[in-house]
Amino acid sequence: MEIDSEKMLLVAAQAASKAYSPYSKFKVGAAVLTESGKIYAGCNIENASYGLTICAERVAIFNAVSEGELDIAAIAITSEGAAKPCGACRQVLHEFAPGMTVIVGDFGGNFSRKFSLRDLLPDPFDGGFKKA
Ligand code: THU
Repeated sequence: MEIDSEKMLLVAAQAASKAYSPYSKFKVGAAVLTESGKIYAGCNIENASYGLTICAERVAIFNAVSEGELDIAAIAITSEGAAKPCGACRQVLHEFAPGMTVIVGDFGGNFSRKFSLRDLLPDPFDGGFKKA
């Protein structure tokens, strides 16, 4: 699947405008690209019980998976400062596509970086010895 980083970052930035983040005031948007070429978006959604907050990356990938899309090629993530995905999200992304491309960018389109998830999450949890 050809990855159009700019388009994905644009969709992610649009999703970030929907962020529900009254506590941190930090807006994050994510756009997941499937191998079939579809894009699924997500934003972070916070809660008064802070720990129940869910990150934009997980909203986006769960959005794709809940539509039956299990072949994931890439994710683009936008925030002020082009933050990289948190550890919990790296593990969740790994579940569906260990070698997926991860693109991070800022809102202005001035800065972006591209990674392989394998570099962001070396030696992940995989069920251990029970899994052949
Ligand atoms: N957040 C994300 O959406 N993705 C990450 O990878 C890390 C953090 C959100 C959670 C919370 O709403 C806000 O950013 C501040 O942590």
